[in-house]
Amino acid sequence: MVNEASRAAYARRAAEYIELLGSMTAVHPLDLQLVSTWARDVHGEIIDAGSGPGHWTNFLAEQGHAARGVDLVPEFVEYAKNTFPGVSFTLGSLDSLDAGTGSVGGILSWYSLIHYEPETIRIPLLEFSRALKPGGTLLVGFFEGQAVEEFAHAVTPAYRWPVDDLGTELNATGFDVLESHIRKTTGQRPLAALVARRRDAL
Ligand SMILES: C[S@@+](CC[C@H](N)C(=O)[O-])C[C@H]1O[C@@H](n2cnc3c(N)ncnc32)[C@H](O)[C@@H]1O
Repeated sequence: MVNEASRAAYARRAAEYIELLGSMTAVHPLDLQLVSTWARDVHGEIIDAGSGPGHWTNFLAEQGHAARGVDLVPEFVEYAKNTFPGVSFTLGSLDSLDAGTGSVGGILSWYSLIHYEPETIRIPLLEFSRALKPGGTLLVGFFEGQAVEEFAHAVTPAYRWPVDDLGTELNATGFDVLESHIRKTTGQRPLAALVARRRDAL
């Protein structure tokens, strides 16, 4: 249901999203540094989970990583395939990745969990945990806040999370949090990212 609402909302605004945010020139240099540094330590395939226009997937592929993108929105997947023909993009949900258990080295979930209702966020987190090999890492980008609360995101309602609360969810789904990053810039929503490592056992 939430998946369907997100799909429909992003499909309606895909062209606008691509225009505004769908290229590496729109990316903050600190984000570029964070994602590049994280990816350097990943061994094995990287899934860009919720790849949208595909620019991050392509960036990772250009850095020499075996990266592929998955997204719920056909308009994004088609755009990504046409724009980055050398990179693999598939239509799919974060709730059920096309990946063997323990087969993936890293998962980038860059602002792709933001629309999950808090009580459902463990569904994709458990799926990430299943797909990652022990020691594999997850990098999650999200909007930070004092409490878990809904806000009116431009595309469809989203949730901001305190770093500790999302950390608790990660802990409960088989991860140890390794790093947390918060960026507060005047006039912008606070942004955060967590790097978490898949434990040997859930
Ligand atoms: C805010 S956009 C971020 C896109 C891209 N990661 C970026 O940084 O530009 C959120 C993306 O997550 C995707 N998404 C949201 N829920 C999803 C789900 N359940 N399964 C797959 N993709 C999902 C949306 O289609 C959208 O492309």
